[in-house]
Amino acid sequence: MPTPHEIAHLTLRQRCTSLGIPTLSFDASGAIEPTLPASLADRIVSTPPFVEPLVAISSSWAGQPAPELVEVFTGCYAAPIPVEERRKRLGYSVGLAFGPSMLARPEFFEACRAAGVDHQQAYAALSASATHTRASAEQLRSFLRWMVMDVAQSADHTDAADVLTTELAASYEQLDAVYDIGRAIGDLTHPPRFVASACKRLRAALSFDFVMARFADDPAVPPALRGVTILDGRSPIRHDDDNEEIAARSLGLLMRLRPQREWTIFEPGTDSPLTPASQTLAQPLIRDGRVVGALIAGDKSGRDPAISSHDTQLIHASGGFVNAFLENSALYLEQKQLFLGTIQAVTAAIDAKDHYTRGHSERVSHLAELLARAVGLSERDIEWARISGLVHDVGKIGVPEAVLTKPGLLTDEEFRAIRLHPEIGHRILRTVLPLAPALPGVLSHHERYDGRGYPNGLRGEEIPLLARIIGLADTFDAMSSNRSYRSAMTRDKVLAEITRCAGSQFDPKLAPLFVAMDFSGFDALIAKHATDAPTYQAAA
Ligand SMILES: [Fe+2]
Repeated sequence: MPTPHEIAHLTLRQRCTSLGIPTLSFDASGAIEPTLPASLADRIVSTPPFVEPLVAISSSWAGQPAPELVEVFTGCYAAPIPVEERRKRLGYSVGLAFGPSMLARPEFFEACRAAGVDHQQAYAALSASATHTRASAEQLRSFLRWMVMDVAQSADHTDAADVLTTELAASYEQLDAVYDIGRAIGDLTHPPRFVASACKRLRAALSFDFVMARFADDPAVPPALRGVTILDGRSPIRHDDDNEEIAARSLGLLMRLRPQREWTIFEPGTDSPLTPASQTLAQPLIRDGRVVGALIAGDKSGRDPAISSHDTQLIHASGGFVNAFLENSALYLEQKQLFLGTIQAVTAAIDAKDHYTRGHSERVSHLAELLARAVGLSERDIEWARISGLVHDVGKIGVPEAVLTKPGLLTDEEFRAIRLHPEIGHRILRTVLPLAPALPGVLSHHERYDGRGYPNGLRGEEIPLLARIIGLADTFDAMSSNRSYRSAMTRDKVLAEITRCAGSQFDPKLAPLFVAMDFSGFDALIAKHATDAPTYQAAA
């Protein structure tokens, strides 16, 4: 891109050419700058007879705000016009005005010869414009001076407008990134996903080769992010892509941050723990007055590799959102634990109505979680299997205790009362909106694969997968524990029974996965609930 000086000189040259005035260009020190001759007159004045006397005096222009008109030799006037940008002198454009006597001077003959121009032809071409006197040449100088100032000023303005436009576009992009990150903090279900997308968005808005988030192994950090490093972009370790090394170096950087809300810039060299070759920008993430993580950006590329105030502002604003996200996550986990704790207490109280079913819901919950994992469900669905297992028998609250605990055979009416519990449970929990994904397991856990179950006689895959999982876990626990009407069956017998009933009572694909599970956690729960007995008996 031409500088304002070049633009001013080109414009002046164009206009002078159209007026028959040749020009020369000098740099700030007074040395001549080569330019392509635009006219016959330009070629003539670019020769030593004109250039040498001008070069001899041009170094004196540097100290003058407006260098004066010079008569180079008789009838040859030179008007040096300074070109400046923000008060800095960049050089001079020199316009040459000729009087009639110049055309008779030996210097003119000599110049024509040096330029390889026929003297007669040059005389004919220039005589019409060689009419200047000192006074008119002085007027020309003033005219050229104002023109160059106008052109340079307008080029300055265009330059400033370009810079402003670029900065505005960058600011918009950065504002958009902060807005995107802010909008995403509402989704607390998957913290690593939020942090990864924040790093990606930041990197897209800035010119860093990498943006990463590093979290300490600290209880104030959501479990899914504890001790975690999330990197977007190129590895900061240029010749070594070792994740452990990146994790160790970023932890070293984390240890050096102070619990203030401002960013830190690590300068290249030994001071920079991650990338010794370039600056690293780190925004600490604070919880309870401690540094629990950092957003880190480094290896800036592009036109300006130095970290700018745009970079620091954006990473600071994004750090604010990640901090808010950490706080919200902690609250969310606290509420979730409270919610699950309440459910656990309620279901334990229901199980305790019959001391034979003590701990049943917790064990079914544990088995449902194991089976959901064996099936390969997502972490979210595994959690719903766990919750559904916990609440699957909540409807027993509506079944008389005398029926639940009756030893021996039940009458038809008592049997009907018991078989109502899935629908009662479903009706109760339907009003608890956040539990909606657990409801299929509550309503349909007594359906059978062959369609002979209740309450709706669903068959095969009509039965929701969650209900098929809970059904298996429920039956396994019932067979494995003592009941009022029979003693517990041995493990081998229970597993054989499940295998035998695959395809009739149970989903034939789930049954083999179930019998292959590790039951040590289940046995630990049986032992725990046996020792809990006195408490529950007292409550019942
Ligand atoms: Fe049940």
